[in-house]
Amino acid sequence: MRSIAGRVAFITAGASGIGWGMARAFLNAGMKVVVGDLLQDHIEECRSQYPGRADLHFIRLDVSNRPQMESAAKEVESRFGRLDVLCNNAGVAARGQVDDASYADWDYVMDVCVGGTINGLVNFLPLIKKHGEGGHVVTTSSMAGMIPVPFNGLYSTAKFAVRGMMDALRLSLGPYGIGVSVLCPGFVATRATTAGDRYRAEHDGTPIHEPREPVRAGMDPLVVGERVLQAIRNNELYIFPHGEFREEVRAYFDRMLAAFPEDFNATADKGRLEIERSRMTRTEEARRIANAIGGARNEGPSVAATVDAWMQGRQPVSPRAKRSASSA
Ligand SMILES: NC(=O)c1ccc[n+]([C@@H]2O[C@H](COP(=O)([O-])OP(=O)(O)OC[C@H]3O[C@@H](n4cnc5c(N)ncnc54)[C@H](O)[C@@H]3O)[C@@H](O)[C@H]2O)c1
Repeated sequence: MRSIAGRVAFITAGASGIGWGMARAFLNAGMKVVVGDLLQDHIEECRSQYPGRADLHFIRLDVSNRPQMESAAKEVESRFGRLDVLCNNAGVAARGQVDDASYADWDYVMDVCVGGTINGLVNFLPLIKKHGEGGHVVTTSSMAGMIPVPFNGLYSTAKFAVRGMMDALRLSLGPYGIGVSVLCPGFVATRATTAGDRYRAEHDGTPIHEPREPVRAGMDPLVVGERVLQAIRNNELYIFPHGEFREEVRAYFDRMLAAFPEDFNATADKGRLEIERSRMTRTEEARRIANAIGGARNEGPSVAATVDAWMQGRQPVSPRAKRSASSA
């Protein structure tokens, strides 16, 4: 989305941390911003930093509450007349571990992280589609949505889910000229680790525990917000602000690739391969349309070479085979 000034953004969980970083970056670039957030004191703190701004509007809501999200979409439209950018940024963790979490823990994390994102799409995407001038959707996942976190498995489950949702959404929204990004940060200096229990207390009345340790060495949320703005301008799918995770992610995917059989093509049913070839061709076409919105980067290699190899009955050369050939 190359033209930014004057466009309208709605940001959930926008009155603190990463969401407020996005809001400030967008306002600095001349956008109009609607912040949706659960806590009134966070809203008031942000409002006091930007007093009397006609281009900034706040709505108190819980993203998991469908009627509240529906009425927020109406409020965005009546306030600014349109929507161009949807940021599904709300996300929470629970104290329960993945092996012994209660239904209440699961419901809380899934309702806010996954349900809140779904509610964002259902209620706000129609506003972007309506004017036909394109736009952008950004959902906040996490590095815990790229690599599993042993001590926070509920959060990882939800963050993997919204990352997958955005991968799929990007392939659907290309024809509307709407780009999609997924933000996967590492540590950012926000209230996430200290105020999390307040969010749950407000959401479902769960008692507040002792305060947790703050994230001390996190990235500046405004830097993350500016990185998100850059990704919107360039229509980048993946936003990874934290370079320190690169090798860990590579190792994760290498382990996954190593689990595939390499000689499948010789023995596989040709009808089965034909079905997959057709699917890959359609996926490739959808990616091409999505990328055409605005010079996307970060998209990795095309699958066309693999499709060609299948069509000609050749075995695509795997990265593992290439590595062992070069080390021989
Ligand atoms: N801080 C990090 O290190 C980090 C890393 C990766 C991903 N994230 C993700 O970034 C997103 C934003 O978190 P943050 O770190 O900026 O946290 P934060 O605690 O600073 O801000 C979160 C905001 O969300 C609001 N909120 C909580 N529950 C809500 C709900 N149900 N509906 C609407 N608003 C709600 C809170 O009132 C608060 O203002 C989350 O999705 C989080 O999972 C954070």
